Amino acid sequence: MISIFKQFEREGILGINRRIGEYILPNNPREFYPLVDDKWKTAELTRQFHVPMPKHYGLIDTFGGIQKTKDLVKDHPGFVVKPANGGMGNGIMVISHSDELENGKVSFHKSDGKVVSEKELNHHISGILSGLYSLDGNSDTCILQERLECHPFFHEISFRGIPDIRVIVYLGYPVMAMLRLPTKESGGRANLHQGALGVGVELTNGTLTHSVCNDKLILIHPDTKQTLSGRVIPHWNDILEMSSRCFDMSGLGYLGVDIVLDEKRGPLLLEMNARPGLGIQIANRMGLLARLKLVEKIRNSADGPKDRVHRILNEL
Ligand SMILES: Nc1ncnc2c1ncn2[C@@H]1O[C@H](COP(=O)(O)OP(=O)(O)O)[C@@H](O)[C@H]1O
Ligand SMILES: [Mg+2]
Repeated sequence: MISIFKQFEREGILGINRRIGEYILPNNPREFYPLVDDKWKTAELTRQFHVPMPKHYGLIDTFGGIQKTKDLVKDHPGFVVKPANGGMGNGIMVISHSDELENGKVSFHKSDGKVVSEKELNHHISGILSGLYSLDGNSDTCILQERLECHPFFHEISFRGIPDIRVIVYLGYPVMAMLRLPTKESGGRANLHQGALGVGVELTNGTLTHSVCNDKLILIHPDTKQTLSGRVIPHWNDILEMSSRCFDMSGLGYLGVDIVLDEKRGPLLLEMNARPGLGIQIANRMGLLARLKLVEKIRNSADGPKDRVHRILNEL
């Protein structure tokens, strides 16, 4: 199989990355970065804007506080341990259930089937606090988050874990989207760097198109062996509107919005990114630049999230 980078370089997609960088950076004031880089701060922001996010059971911000973990999660046998300032899935541990042992200690079962003791979990949290997984290498805080369940749409196509939908939003207008599906290799996380699958999505209606895994085009999911193209993501319009609202919430002109689908609650915001990757172009076999230019042509500062979605979809 030929390297897809070579193929797309020929088609000019990767060649425009630098220009996109020049285009984007002026639209993201640096003082807003902490709001999206720190998932705890993002959660506070979403509450003000009534954007639903997974629940947070607590925050561990000191080494002395690590011992509170067991108490904070005691009513929640499944939960997720996450660095507040992490990225690319690093440091995320998904606990599917916990068992109380006869000696009063608790053992935690990870979504990949491995079991960790209290001591090992605390050790992992202490690594998070030291900044082992933080984006800037500085000390970090640790979030204890609700563990999400997979929406039925994904049961057949995703290998364990929770898929997410990445939407690139420019000046409040959604311009390109990709579904990311966990694989055996990605250990339940939907991050492309961990080996998850990227699937292009038709922006107008949420239909899946082409799939990419480890920079190679593929036709079926490597683990579930299911064909992906042609399936339609449920709640598509709500996903686009929520992505658009993230512009008003974050003040960032060029934004990657990550959304997960909950069966009962519908779309939930997982995180926002001020420097989203450009791999989305490969999954969509399409460069971003034309869409960015389109937004500049059609944008209307009086538009709210609903109008912005409507306006761009009418143009595509
Ligand atoms: N609450 C959760 N429940 C289940 N899986 C989760 C949860 N949070 C994250 N994940 C999995 O981990 C991946 C990365 O999580 P995310 O919050 O986006 O962190 P990062 O900044 O490291 O990408 C998600 O795409 C999802 O697959
Ligand atoms: Mg993410």
